[in-house]
Amino acid sequence: MGTQGSESQDSESYGARPRSRGTGRRALLGAAVLGAGGAVVGLPGTAGADTRQGGGYRSLPKPTVIAHRGASGYRPEHTLGSYQLAVDMGADVIEAGDLVPTKDGHIVCRHEPEIGGTTDVASHPEFASRKTTKLLDGVSVTGWFTEDFTLAELKTLRAVERIPANRPHNTLYNGRWEIPTFEEVLKWQDEQTRKRGKQVWIYPETKHPTYFRKLGLGLEERVAKLLRRYGKDRKNSPVILQSFEPSSIQRFDKLVGNPLVVLLSGASTRPWDFVEAGDPRTVADLVKPAGLKEIATYAQGIGPTLDLIIPRDSSGNLTTPTTLVRDAHAEGLILHPYTMRNENPFLPANFRKGTDADAYGDAFGAFRTYFATGIDGVFTDHPDTGLLARADFLKG
Ligand code: G3P
Ligand code: CA
Repeated sequence: MGTQGSESQDSESYGARPRSRGTGRRALLGAAVLGAGGAVVGLPGTAGADTRQGGGYRSLPKPTVIAHRGASGYRPEHTLGSYQLAVDMGADVIEAGDLVPTKDGHIVCRHEPEIGGTTDVASHPEFASRKTTKLLDGVSVTGWFTEDFTLAELKTLRAVERIPANRPHNTLYNGRWEIPTFEEVLKWQDEQTRKRGKQVWIYPETKHPTYFRKLGLGLEERVAKLLRRYGKDRKNSPVILQSFEPSSIQRFDKLVGNPLVVLLSGASTRPWDFVEAGDPRTVADLVKPAGLKEIATYAQGIGPTLDLIIPRDSSGNLTTPTTLVRDAHAEGLILHPYTMRNENPFLPANFRKGTDADAYGDAFGAFRTYFATGIDGVFTDHPDTGLLARADFLKG
């Protein structure tokens, strides 16, 4: 994901468009394990219709319900099926997608470059020799990597459910959808917006941007070029950009006008670009008022792990909220923490019901508790649950 403790110049020429904005702009078990591509099984211990110019991110309903990797609680993540279901459910924003490059420089939607856990690549004998081990942001990872495949090759694969033990029903859809490209997502966004007469918002994230830049596959210029091509590179465009690496967001700040969000993993972790640059600061430093003040010079918001909003005790129960919501708001930053999920293993211990790994706990109670902190929105794999929880919360 681009942090420690847990992500050449491009061959094409891209035009940078400086903007004048002035100043003022993960280890949850689930997030950590999902991010690493592993299998989560049990509990630990038991706006307007204009596709180009919306009303800006401040016009989104609050707390904003952001469909994490689409409606990934119900469909294999980062597929058009998952994105479509999230729109059908009424999610305010779709995280479409986490972005990684192909060997031939296309941008595709996968949570990480390694695709063994989310596609059927292992059952393709023609790609058996591509299986390899790489050092990814300091972590040894074995599998198949998008940067070793052309887009045409990736398009022969099909998506599968990442965590079948937690989401057995989702395996019904294994093999149904391709890996989408970011360009396909931008077209899909316009089609859906036209069809519904309601602006569809997306929230793409650059994954491992320093790693890919060192491979000659810089992400930001390619993403910015596509946003420009589709007229979605402006301050009020319905596209929010996010990254765990602050330098990726700073790069976007020079390329596009879109709202920008810095993701923050666990307090003891360091963004991977900090590691590479020898910057000793950790997330604990970034969430202090001075760190937030600096982020606010190039970003509009932060996306902290939920544990930075309300830490858990050693048993996994929620404790007392931190001052992060207040401190970030004081700097003009919005907060979109991640990730709310309905299943027991991903909920704080005090909201679990029983011990079944695929059973739902008291997700409404957890949503209510997090919303009460004043967050501006939340990433969730279950946007329908999030929308009902928001309605309850707004009713009071
Ligand atoms: O993008 C917010 C959230 O998605 C960050 O977590 O690891 O699922 O990309 P991750
Ligand atoms: Ca993400």
